[in-house]
Amino acid sequence: MPQLKSKTVYLCSACGNDHPKWHGQCPSCNEWGTLGEFKVSKKRKKGSGGLARDSRKLTDILQGDEVKRIPTGIAEMDRVLGGGLLPGSLILLGGNPGIGKSTLALQILPAFTKQVLYVSAEESEEQIGLRARRLNVNSDSLHLSSENRIEGILDQVSLIQPELVVIDSIQTVFSDALDSLPGSVSQIRECGQQLLQLAKQRNIAVMIIGHVTKEGVIAGPKMLEHMVDIVLYIEGDDRHDHRILRSAKNRFGTSNEVGIFQMESNGLIEVKNPSELFLAERRDDISGSTIFPSLEGSRPILVEVQALVSNANFGTPQRNVNGFDFKRLAMLLAVLEKRLGTHMGTKDVFVNLVGGLKVDDPAADLAVITAVASSARDKLLPKSVILIGEVGLGGEVRSVSRLEARINEAKSLGFKTVIAPTANVKRMKKSPKGIKISGVTNVGEAFHLLF
Ligand code: TYD
Ligand code: MG
Repeated sequence: MPQLKSKTVYLCSACGNDHPKWHGQCPSCNEWGTLGEFKVSKKRKKGSGGLARDSRKLTDILQGDEVKRIPTGIAEMDRVLGGGLLPGSLILLGGNPGIGKSTLALQILPAFTKQVLYVSAEESEEQIGLRARRLNVNSDSLHLSSENRIEGILDQVSLIQPELVVIDSIQTVFSDALDSLPGSVSQIRECGQQLLQLAKQRNIAVMIIGHVTKEGVIAGPKMLEHMVDIVLYIEGDDRHDHRILRSAKNRFGTSNEVGIFQMESNGLIEVKNPSELFLAERRDDISGSTIFPSLEGSRPILVEVQALVSNANFGTPQRNVNGFDFKRLAMLLAVLEKRLGTHMGTKDVFVNLVGGLKVDDPAADLAVITAVASSARDKLLPKSVILIGEVGLGGEVRSVSRLEARINEAKSLGFKTVIAPTANVKRMKKSPKGIKISGVTNVGEAFHLLF
């Protein structure tokens, strides 16, 4: 058997660094048991070689033509990107299998007037073609390919000279220079690196699609996050049709911006007014329901917080939470017990943010604690009340960011009363008309107004 000339390296599946020797603990990131053995062929080219690049003066760069972003034609996508795709940028689009990554990537293609290359090693050209037609993506400039060697992809790029390349997905492409399997840490890192060079050297946008699986979270796209300019994730679950596109990182815009879509038979459709979507099935005749304007990136979205408190049937009471931090809920329950005299020790507590939205905004505290208290005391809350405020360990209500934007969103959906931190309310320059704002300094005051 011909012996391949190769050397062995130990790659960390957590940070992606390689080491010449095996260690129990990765010397780079200190994770335990993450090093795996990989054979790297010796003929692998090191770096790109060539001449060193010159530096440029800041004033020269600013005087040059301003780079034009290319709008994708999908407003929700453009907002998340920071106003469109920038030439020369490397974008990672991640998400669970079946969430709609390929669909979204296909839907942005008609916006490009020059050539576009869509590489899908997962499906045949015919399959992507069929899907593209179903999504009404009819573009003369769209080239489809099911090449899965990175070298082949680079050749096609030289030939077609596209302004955008989509790789669907990074787990299926591989480089001839490595002996490991497609989808392995070393392959993903190598191909990612080559695509980075491609984007920067040719000044074209490259979008990489990556699956996030339960155990592949770190080895897959997570490692690429350091490499790319923009990280987008599509979130959502099987039970709901809506999808949330979120920018986890954006070198050219604000991160944590969100776009909301609905998955329909003809692809992902933008949701122009997400608050209406999340409140659509709300019932205001049951206890334990409050409304909170969550700030998702720069945009406020109203979400319903539901709580259910019942007597525990077993020794240890259950605490179950969807869309909100578990530890934060535990803290709020302790505040409720200690500062407001509501006994929670023998109660099961369930908290749910309706619609599958995940909120890690401390401003949700007041809405959550009030929903729990409303259910525990079985008292209905007044209709059309909005609750905003971070709750401290002493039961005090602390100020939050961008109160006015949150109040305006509530107002536009017809809410009439807002309970917000006094400190915030005092700072407001002018209070909006048609909505009553009550400032509170602690949770007790809020309960006094409500119950
Ligand atoms: P897909 O984009 O293939 O997901 P991913 O690339 O993230 O794996 O989308 C797959 C799901 O979306 C599939 O279950 C079918 C559904 N879908 C629609 O509901 N409508 C459509 O128009 C398309 C193209 C897909
Ligand atoms: Mg796909």
